[in-house]
Amino acid sequence: MYILGIESSCDDTSVALLKCSPKGHIVLAEKTASQIDIHVKYGGVVPEIAGRLHAEKIVPLIEAVLKKQPKPEAIAVTSGPGLVTGLLVGVTAAQTLSFATNIPLISVNHLEGHIHSVELAPDGALGQSINQFPALCLVVSGGHTELILMKKHGDYQILGSTKDDAAGECFDKVAKLLHLPYPGGPQISKLAETGITSAIPFPRPMLDQNNFDFSFAGLKTSALYWLRNNKLSAERFNSITLPAGIYGQPQESPTINDFAASIEQAIIDVLVIKTLRAIDKYQPKTVILAGGVAANKKLRETLKKEIKLVAPPLAYCMDNGAMIAVAGYYYALKKKFTPWSELVVDPNWKIGAKKS
Ligand code: KG4
Ligand code: ZN
Repeated sequence: MYILGIESSCDDTSVALLKCSPKGHIVLAEKTASQIDIHVKYGGVVPEIAGRLHAEKIVPLIEAVLKKQPKPEAIAVTSGPGLVTGLLVGVTAAQTLSFATNIPLISVNHLEGHIHSVELAPDGALGQSINQFPALCLVVSGGHTELILMKKHGDYQILGSTKDDAAGECFDKVAKLLHLPYPGGPQISKLAETGITSAIPFPRPMLDQNNFDFSFAGLKTSALYWLRNNKLSAERFNSITLPAGIYGQPQESPTINDFAASIEQAIIDVLVIKTLRAIDKYQPKTVILAGGVAANKKLRETLKKEIKLVAPPLAYCMDNGAMIAVAGYYYALKKKFTPWSELVVDPNWKIGAKKS
């Protein structure tokens, strides 16, 4: 079945055409326009600018992806959660296309898309289906940190989520304190490679609580206070060009690398420990790690040491239209379509719940 996937919930406009089947899926064409170069100037995603850039790119991307390809049999589009300015662009484009061509529409939850990114394989190869249930999914991105129990395709229960900042947001905000460019996750994890994880004893928030919720805002504040207490304003160092001792002497400890390694370890410890507790309680047959932070090598390796982990190829960790097409495929199989006139965006759509 040929499925067109459209994603525009944050700062990537992404469109993909997939050939999906029970044996796996092949990406026939995909195009993504990243807005990072623009948002980097502001240190984060600016919703108004994001909406305008999505609007500029969406039609040319759809046109490029569909060129010389078979006609899609369904259009899957992210309709929440995310930035309303971006969601509206993708959804309106999908509605228009559906109206003009009579191709049926599928409304996809962004997190459901991330979960299905594990079914993708790079370079035109066949991806492997999620077929052992229940599956426990840790979805970690710039906007989300959720532990989700997937009972089957289309059936989800949120076990826990962040009460404030997402894990990726914590990486990004700490990176901002260091004047590192957005998105900060990859920057912090690169610096952390040569740092000492125990150099600074950052807290492990909410580990003392017997639930599957997270909180990362306090961790960011601890990082800020630590820098302040050690008389380090962000202006004083630019870590990329100055991998010197934080106190100013070249190799004096803790270095910027130690700082990055310590904060990364704190985030990873919380994610891993809560995931292992959920595994203990729910005994899942599959454990999935997905979302932008799934690109973090240390997080993947730490989980892999403990359990058999299913994670997306690095190329599909970040937002992409292909994962939306895969999630949509399972609805198309059951003919669960939404008429174009009834498709609405819901910026706060919780996976597993009805849209508001
Ligand atoms: O899924 P995504 O592309 O967008 C959202 O839905 O939010 O995730 C982007 C997030 C950013 O916060 C970014 O810093 C984080 O993923 N990220 C990482 C890494 N690569 C991307 N965080 C930690 N380590 C990485 N290697
Ligand atoms: Zn995402």
